Amino acid sequence: MKTTLLLLVILGLAQCAVIKQQVHKSGSRQAKMIREGIYSDFLANRHLARAQGDGNVGTQPFIDYLDDVYRGEISIGTPPQNFSVALDTGSSDLWVVDARCNIWDCPDFIYWTKSRFNSSASSTFYPTNNPYNIPHVSSGMVGTDDLDVGGITVYNQGFGLATDTNNPFADQAIDGVLGLAWPNLSKIFVAAPIENLVRVLDLPLFTIWLDRHDGADDSAEHKRGGLITYGALDNEHCEAEVGYVKLSSLSYWQFPMTRFSVGSYSSNARVDAISDTGSAWIGAPASAVAGVVAATGAKIDPINNLYTVPCAGKYPDLVFTIGGREYTVPSMDYVLDLGYGKGKCYLAVYAVSGGGFGPDWILGDTWIRANCNVYDIGQRRIGFAKSIPSP
Ligand SMILES: *[C@@H]1O[C@H](CO)[C@@H](O)[C@H](O)[C@H]1NC(C)=O
Ligand SMILES: *[C@@H]1O[C@H](CO)[C@@H](O)[C@H](O)[C@H]1NC(C)=O
Ligand SMILES: *[C@@H]1O[C@H](CO)[C@@H](O)[C@H](O)[C@H]1NC(C)=O
Repeated sequence: MKTTLLLLVILGLAQCAVIKQQVHKSGSRQAKMIREGIYSDFLANRHLARAQGDGNVGTQPFIDYLDDVYRGEISIGTPPQNFSVALDTGSSDLWVVDARCNIWDCPDFIYWTKSRFNSSASSTFYPTNNPYNIPHVSSGMVGTDDLDVGGITVYNQGFGLATDTNNPFADQAIDGVLGLAWPNLSKIFVAAPIENLVRVLDLPLFTIWLDRHDGADDSAEHKRGGLITYGALDNEHCEAEVGYVKLSSLSYWQFPMTRFSVGSYSSNARVDAISDTGSAWIGAPASAVAGVVAATGAKIDPINNLYTVPCAGKYPDLVFTIGGREYTVPSMDYVLDLGYGKGKCYLAVYAVSGGGFGPDWILGDTWIRANCNVYDIGQRRIGFAKSIPSP
């Protein structure tokens, strides 16, 4: 019996050293809030939540964690229980909602009949006596169980079983989060998913490709997703030439950027940027946002506190210099038709008011759609290659 099991394990590993995981996109809550004129209230609340938070560098990117959630399927336990989780390179923990979470603490999870983890129903689950708390996200107890990602099994992955969840996480179309950043950001204090995954992969890296944005069109065929390839580059959706840069911190996927330009604006300041699938747009220093506004002739939408331009215009590329190479985000990616009407489009750029803590730039999904990101755990670097959108 034991031998058979071991053999299966070895076979399993040998066959699954490269895993492709389909990524699905949720509809845009952000677009809906902008149309209804309630987005700026929402953001103000989020900023307030952060100001009252633990002051940790970890909280900044979550401000934008409300839209364009990219989900993937995982399973936990024996027999496997399936979950649809946000794949988040801006945090480092796995958590899902506990089946014991009640209607008062997890109302959305119960009303919306999302999947919750029933630890009593898993023969491989081990509880611990340790509580966890991810501020403004979720809290509960820590346990360990077998995690299956795209057919590969990580044994005894520590994870959070949430018995309390907060907005805006609770009302997303997700059952939890799979954090793919460095252990340093962990709030659960167990081996992070990337530490465990890296041991079983062909190459110690994963590649994320996100398909182009379709604005406000939430119809099924336009809800384009993407692909995470664990253990290999993605030669189908990313151009072959990958430019790498050493990470400047092993917390977020954080790296130095040496120049930013758009139209006649440019800045040669050396700044830190992060690649974050959990953020929808591009967060930039206020001076760079002013540069984008000048280069596009954008106007402020005072209701939503966002910048608008006519959808029909022609706008210059955003140009980023990273590791001595230039990468662009064309207006196709940063000028968004959120379904507001009147020919009005929104700039997917906002000012990061980090107040001196945290990264200067947050390169979210808007960036990743234009450029595939290669998260190289083994060599502590990140790589970028031009993305090939689906036709
Ligand atoms: C879990 O997902 C797998 C793979 O998609 C599927 O084969 C299985 O039936 C699912 N299990 C349940 C309980 O839904
Ligand atoms: C959890 O699983 C156990 C054992 O299968 C079952 O008795 C119990 O009803 C389940 N609890 C929930 C909340 O689904
Ligand atoms: C994570 O690393 C950063 C810089 O590398 C450091 O400032 C921060 O204190 C570390 N956080 C933890 C929780 O170790």
